[in-house]
Amino acid sequence: MRTQVGIIGGGPSGLLLSQLLHVRGIDNVVLEKHSREHVLGRIRAGVLERGFARLMREAQVGDRMDREGQVHEGFQIACNGTLDRIDLKGLTRGDTVLVYGQTELTRDLYEGRDALGGTVIHRAEEVEPRDIETQAPYITFRRGCEAIRLDCDYIVGCDGFHGVSRQTLPKHRVREFERVYSFGWLGVLTQTPPVSSELIYARHERGFALCSLRSAALSRYYIQVPLTDSVDDWTDERFFEELRRRLPDQVSATMVTGPSIEKSVAPLRSYVVEPMRHGRLFLAGDAAHIVPPTGAKGLNTAASDVHYLHEALVHHYIHGDDGCLDHYSERALARVWKAQRFSWWMTALLHRFPERGDYDQRLQETELSYLRSSDVARASLAENYVGLPF
Ligand code: APR
Ligand code: PHB
Repeated sequence: MRTQVGIIGGGPSGLLLSQLLHVRGIDNVVLEKHSREHVLGRIRAGVLERGFARLMREAQVGDRMDREGQVHEGFQIACNGTLDRIDLKGLTRGDTVLVYGQTELTRDLYEGRDALGGTVIHRAEEVEPRDIETQAPYITFRRGCEAIRLDCDYIVGCDGFHGVSRQTLPKHRVREFERVYSFGWLGVLTQTPPVSSELIYARHERGFALCSLRSAALSRYYIQVPLTDSVDDWTDERFFEELRRRLPDQVSATMVTGPSIEKSVAPLRSYVVEPMRHGRLFLAGDAAHIVPPTGAKGLNTAASDVHYLHEALVHHYIHGDDGCLDHYSERALARVWKAQRFSWWMTALLHRFPERGDYDQRLQETELSYLRSSDVARASLAENYVGLPF
């Protein structure tokens, strides 16, 4: 087989890149380890920056998102029994975010790939990028009993944090940056009306909590839990009891609960690999970096990588100019680090850090009170939350 761009991973990054390249006439093949059902079964984030929404439209897959996604003009921060609104729209001169689940977005991307006749090969096993330092890289993989070779001009690793692409980079040519947190988020999805029309991020001495949503009838809730906890430790009753304790009374009192339809624990981690390119292998999305979910930046940072990379490939194939490809890693990382900073800051602002002492506790309280009292501080939060430009 031969294609121009071989893409490893059929999550949001790989599919969006594939669709954008196809629309510009650049041939590509996506190799995905799992079945489509498996990929669509994952419940992940749900807050899209405007830049992401713009890319979905450019990729001709934005119609359902525009119909069903909810525009959010602000969110709430709960602390010491009170709610404080961050007016995203007012603080950013009109910018907002779109609440639209990653599962829905991935479904739209798959349908877009089908509609254009794109090639997505599922259940591709033992995928391996090869000869990435040469002008003629290729990918080998297995499908059932068949061993297949895919020759390409470039390989893009969009295979998430546990994928194979990053492992291919020579260890002495890369630098890794990492912060591991001592807690995780326990998330629950329920078929109940959300407790609030806007997201509520709660700081509480028992730990962080988040009230989010997917639609008028589907709620997504999270609580901070120790990493040693597993889903089996948390019945639905225990989860909602704990969630209620961490929210202001006026919120807990109106919360409608129901059986969970999904429940999972996600550890919190910050990670970046530099550079995001070696030879003819490029990395994008979770394959190159991850953030704790507090600032809703994971998916959105994947989108900015895809934007820079698709633009660079278009410059190469359509204008014969490699300048953007040569600067891809640098451009992408500049924005990646800003998302890292913001995610770290918002995580530090709202979580309980059991290992920290009184001094850090006071700093956290002061940060929150500063935020409450300063329009400049709130504007900085809002600017980052709606997404820095790319
Ligand atoms: N071969 C082929 N495919 C692979 C391999 C492999 N060796 N390893 C992983 N994959 C696939 C996974 O099955 C998955 O479908 O790559 C895909 C990676 O998708 P994601 O992990 O979702 O990563 P990405 O597409 O970069 O999405 C951005 O932002 O909100 C965050 O973590 C959230 O998934 C989200 C991410
Ligand atoms: C979610 O709805 O899953 C969600 C929303 C906001 C976040 C993280 C997760 O910051």
